[in-house]
Amino acid sequence: MCGIVGAIARRNVSKILIEGLSRLEYRGYDSSGVAINNEEGVYFHRAVGKVQALRDKFSEQPLDGKMGIAHTRWATHGKPTEANAHPHFSGDDLALVHNGIIENHEPLRRELKDKGYEFNSETDTEVIVHLIHDALKTQPDLLKAVQSSLSRLEGAFAIGVVQKDDNERFIAARKGSPLVIGVGIEENFVASDQLALLHVTDQFIFLEEGDVADVSRDQVTIYDIRGEVQERPVSVFNHNVDATDKGEFRHYMMKEIYEQPNVISACLEGRISDSKVLTSCFGAESDFLKKVENIHIVACGTSYHAGMVAKYWIEELAGLPCSVEVASEYRYRKVAVPKNTLFLTLSQSGETADTLAALRMAKELNYLTTLAICNVPSSTLVRESALTLLTNAGAEIGVASTKAFTTQLTALLITSVAIAVENGLSAEKEKTLVQAMRSLPACVNEALQQDGHIKQIADKFANKHNALFLGRGAMFPIALEGSLKLKEISYIHAEAYPAGELKHGPLALVDEDMPIITLVPHNGMLDKIKSNLQEVAARGGELYVFADRETDLHNEENITFSEVPKVEAILEPIVHTIPLQLLSYHVAVVKGTDVDQPRNLAKSVTVE
Ligand code: G6P
Repeated sequence: MCGIVGAIARRNVSKILIEGLSRLEYRGYDSSGVAINNEEGVYFHRAVGKVQALRDKFSEQPLDGKMGIAHTRWATHGKPTEANAHPHFSGDDLALVHNGIIENHEPLRRELKDKGYEFNSETDTEVIVHLIHDALKTQPDLLKAVQSSLSRLEGAFAIGVVQKDDNERFIAARKGSPLVIGVGIEENFVASDQLALLHVTDQFIFLEEGDVADVSRDQVTIYDIRGEVQERPVSVFNHNVDATDKGEFRHYMMKEIYEQPNVISACLEGRISDSKVLTSCFGAESDFLKKVENIHIVACGTSYHAGMVAKYWIEELAGLPCSVEVASEYRYRKVAVPKNTLFLTLSQSGETADTLAALRMAKELNYLTTLAICNVPSSTLVRESALTLLTNAGAEIGVASTKAFTTQLTALLITSVAIAVENGLSAEKEKTLVQAMRSLPACVNEALQQDGHIKQIADKFANKHNALFLGRGAMFPIALEGSLKLKEISYIHAEAYPAGELKHGPLALVDEDMPIITLVPHNGMLDKIKSNLQEVAARGGELYVFADRETDLHNEENITFSEVPKVEAILEPIVHTIPLQLLSYHVAVVKGTDVDQPRNLAKSVTVE
């Protein structure tokens, strides 16, 4: 995805900027560019492909200067060409880099064209730089011109702007896309990700929603959305906290469970505005959303469970038929493909052999297009799929997937709503769902607060040999995922059933030795599932119930109640996942198994 780097120093910044872009390569991109300010003006290089292509241009024609902005672009509006790569210019006065999507770029483009501005790219970004240029005519101060222009933009953005005649400052701003200031000695920086600046500083100021920063060599002044100066705290990057380090945690799995509020935020960044899903997050060809009439989801393991949840969301919100299948089955049968069917793969690694084989087979069939929801930008699945939505969970080291799963669900929720919007979902309902998504990181954080309580109940599982998980509706796949987690890392045999199926067989297994973990949704199924609980209690079964307080469930004889935060119904599958991850983790720790590398399992299954 797009990345921003900016620098102002007393030394030449071109190498700093290019190194910063290299550090952002993991995000995925298709072109890059740098603009350098010096006494003579603003000069630039842009290149399609890898950052190396940009380095080559600098080798052929060096650009030196003490201030500059740089960008890696992941195409949304317009193909990956040099003309569409950032920085974008207004005349030779202003240069700008941008992450995010400007939703109202079309009317703004018309307005600016009427004023005589010429457009040199197909991007939504170019309207911003002309808008600021236009504002400078009545308001010659760059900061004020940026502030007034940003108030006209709808959508998500992070920007960096430099002006030809001003070598003493650059302006950076964010709304809906992340941006961080790097603080140095007599030099300051900006980037979309602090990793891009770790070669020059470890001191960071995280800009908040709506912030505009005026950045000079000796000073950073931050204005909030109302234009008032704010002091934002400086935090020091802890070099011990990276993907390959467990930090304060005993196991990667626990570290990754606790990362979920942050990575879910990262998954949402730039993909939703205040009230809408930004469909351009699917790339330049997002018009498939208008055509899709059917969805086939194919995946393996935990990713398959994420797909099963999405079926509930897609059929409920969009009213379109959706089937979900494990890749190892799909690839070996004759598949009927109805007209305008989307082929959607889910994979944490993007290298799972069965999923890749299924994709290759699907490409020979009559699908509308192929979309991969994946965590690894450079993976084969991403490279071979027509469209990609990255989950942005960061490297997951623990074999038992946790943050990769909840970010897949987040990405699937974005996708489900985007499809639903083209199939009659009202603007009001879309807004409610988007606002629910915005609350998700906080809800997941709240669910993590139950860790201590779940650790206590985990002790009761240590000597069990079997466990049964029950759920209904979209909570059934979460029961499957909970049972998979428990068996993967604690080696306890676990199975999951839709709660209504209990009486058709599994009830025969219920006795005082069988823990039964039940996920209770707070929706129309509540009374039904309470009846299922009675069926178990009447047979002396030991129930562990996960529900919110308003369900009126509580501790009773044979019932251990665990509280899950009360959330919008659509978020329940994601939030209920958290206590089940914690449960399997603590049971495995009590049993002394190898939590991060369970026997016989691999993180990425690249063989059939
Ligand atoms: C392996 C991993 C699982 C994962 C599955 C699918 O079995 O151990 O955690 O769910 O592969 O992997 P993918 O990378 O395609 O999501």
